Amino acid sequence: MIKKAVIPAAGYGTRFLPITKSLPKELLPIIDHPTIEFIVNEAIDSGITDILLIVSSNKNAIIDYFDYNLELETILLSKNKYEEYGIIRNIAQGANIHYIRQREQLGLGHAVLQAEAFVGNDPFAVLLGDDMYVGKGKPAIRQMIDAYNEVESSVLGTIEVDYKDTSRYGICIPKGEKKGKLVELKGVVEKPKVEEAPSRSAIGGRYVLTPTIFSYLKNQEKGAGNEIQLTDAILRLMGEEKVYSYDIEGKRYDVGNKIDYIEAILDFGLEKEELRENLQKLINKKSK
Ligand code: UTP
Repeated sequence: MIKKAVIPAAGYGTRFLPITKSLPKELLPIIDHPTIEFIVNEAIDSGITDILLIVSSNKNAIIDYFDYNLELETILLSKNKYEEYGIIRNIAQGANIHYIRQREQLGLGHAVLQAEAFVGNDPFAVLLGDDMYVGKGKPAIRQMIDAYNEVESSVLGTIEVDYKDTSRYGICIPKGEKKGKLVELKGVVEKPKVEEAPSRSAIGGRYVLTPTIFSYLKNQEKGAGNEIQLTDAILRLMGEEKVYSYDIEGKRYDVGNKIDYIEAILDFGLEKEELRENLQKLINKKSK
């Protein structure tokens, strides 16, 4: 049973400077909720009971967001604002949230390594703090946990991207023919040059990994971008254990990317009863 999830959220968020100078990228609002809350809720809705958020020294606002704010609660209650009280009181109920600081931002692989003691000897889920999935079906990480239960090996969640975009992702090299959404991998390469991309199957911010990964992360050398890459450690893990990719069903927003971020706000706004009509009118007016 996979009950633990790790959410790395310690990166600098340089694509969103200057706002990320003081506001963590993961707290960028999708209207009135921060991005990371959608990701925490995805984990909770997938049966995860313990979530480790990997943060850094200037990301205390994330910790505050998931804590109670007793002063604000008292004020809301004194003003009979029960609905607002309920909204802030119920944030991320349903799982224990733990924190650890990555003391130096040496890369995603190094961030995940900070979770070793928390994870112990069981397989675990990884959800990147800036990749959001929505869909009518099962949550993205639930789909992957189910895939893990089928193959009992590490599974990388994938999306299909255009060849021109492959240099932004970890790209999978399948071993054989795809059976449904799962395929065993023979390799994976982080941010290949477009002309060298082995496929269009890109890792989309979701992983279920066996704890064997830690023995590779511990001595992983720096790779693309001069960072300790999770993808490079996974490639070495393939020498010891099978690793599969799984095509995630659902719409993905890379909230670290400005156009995806704006699209997420529009889509979520259109889902909100109280905003839908006026937002639709606004969109129609602007697109004339
Ligand atoms: P990204 O490369 O998307 O995030 O890393 P970033 O470095 O914050 O953003 P840019 O590219 O500079 O705009 C993927 C995930 O890994 C985390 C990030 O927080 C993000 O969720 N990460 C990355 C860490 O936790 N630690 C690191 O050292 C690097």
